[in-house]
Amino acid sequence: MTLYDVAVVGATGLVGRKILQILEERNFPVDRVIPIASAKSLGTMIPFKEHQRAVVELNETAFVHAEIVFFAAGGEVSRKWAPIAARHCDIVIDNSSEFRMDPHVPLVVPEVNPRAIFTYKSKIVANPNCSTIQMVLPLKPLHDAYRIKRIVVSTYQAVSGAGQRGLTQLAHELARQPVDRPVFPHPIASNALPHIAVFYSDGYSKEEYKMIEETRKILGDPAMKIAPTCVRVPVANCHSESVNIEFEKPFDLRAARDLIAAAPGVALYDDPGNNVYPLATVVDGKDEVYVGRVRRDESVPNGLAMWIVADNLRKGAATNAVQIAEAWIKGPDTFKVAR
Ligand SMILES: NC(=O)c1ccc[n+]([C@@H]2O[C@H](COP(=O)([O-])OP(=O)(O)OC[C@H]3O[C@@H](n4cnc5c(N)ncnc54)[C@H](OP(=O)(O)O)[C@@H]3O)[C@@H](O)[C@H]2O)c1
Repeated sequence: MTLYDVAVVGATGLVGRKILQILEERNFPVDRVIPIASAKSLGTMIPFKEHQRAVVELNETAFVHAEIVFFAAGGEVSRKWAPIAARHCDIVIDNSSEFRMDPHVPLVVPEVNPRAIFTYKSKIVANPNCSTIQMVLPLKPLHDAYRIKRIVVSTYQAVSGAGQRGLTQLAHELARQPVDRPVFPHPIASNALPHIAVFYSDGYSKEEYKMIEETRKILGDPAMKIAPTCVRVPVANCHSESVNIEFEKPFDLRAARDLIAAAPGVALYDDPGNNVYPLATVVDGKDEVYVGRVRRDESVPNGLAMWIVADNLRKGAATNAVQIAEAWIKGPDTFKVAR
């Protein structure tokens, strides 16, 4: 078996640490890991398997020996360093939004469009936004069967989606301690903030635009109508979404439920009469996207409503990134029948 030298840029952050954990959990064929972060973390020891690895500073020489590089250090770092990494290494998997909408870069959810890794001829592969990943997984088989006309989605996004500083702000507010460098524009404890990332002049936020554009790119339908509202809530980890879909074709509710249940990477968790529906506390630490409250929306001809919850650090970021690397190792022939 071929073993790979794997570098993780942002190895001290929430996503970088989770990538290392998942590489270990999935027994990824690693020869050597190279944890990379900023100068301030130089020498910080990061555990990987039975060893501790010292963090190295991001510079020209940091990843020269790596074959696979994961970036989880924000858009600015990716913009500058991912193309440099791509010159030295075989594949660069980027968690930031920097390259997602680049027409030359694939945007991949391995259960949905794995072939894009190979058809784009780009060494940089973009990992989608966390809210988008969890939405497209159950929607993909429904779109194939009934053709989605319009999606209305409201998100309830955890503070870990804003990185370590998001978790710290919530913890400090709950403990009534002063918050140094708040990451949210208002207190997050006791609040729901309809504000994630910057606003554009049309009133939509950058996070909402990501959901629109990335969903269209992954599902290969540039005309799909999507109306998102993205909200930050005082939950430590796991994003929840209320998703309402209007299909072009009529559907049978039981058949739609069967398609969701059979979707790879999805767990149908839906027995509301017995209080069974996806919750952040149930889904935290899981790789599957959980779907419940599946019901017909009678207000439109072919409407379906559901509640989707996923661990934003796992399937919304690290697990999806590691799965991209696994798919790349398997090669294009494995995905002949997929998109
Ligand atoms: N959190 C999520 O749910 C989520 C989901 C999907 C995608 N993402 C994306 O993943 C990336 C990381 O997010 P996160 O939540 O892990 O953030 P985080 O906890 O704040 O971690 C940021 C990481 O980036 C490193 N970093 C920052 N500036 C750097 C620089 N100039 N040079 C080298 N390293 C630098 C930090 O290193 P130091 O410790 O040395 O500062 C740290 O390791 C972001 O692009 C984010 O948009 C996050």
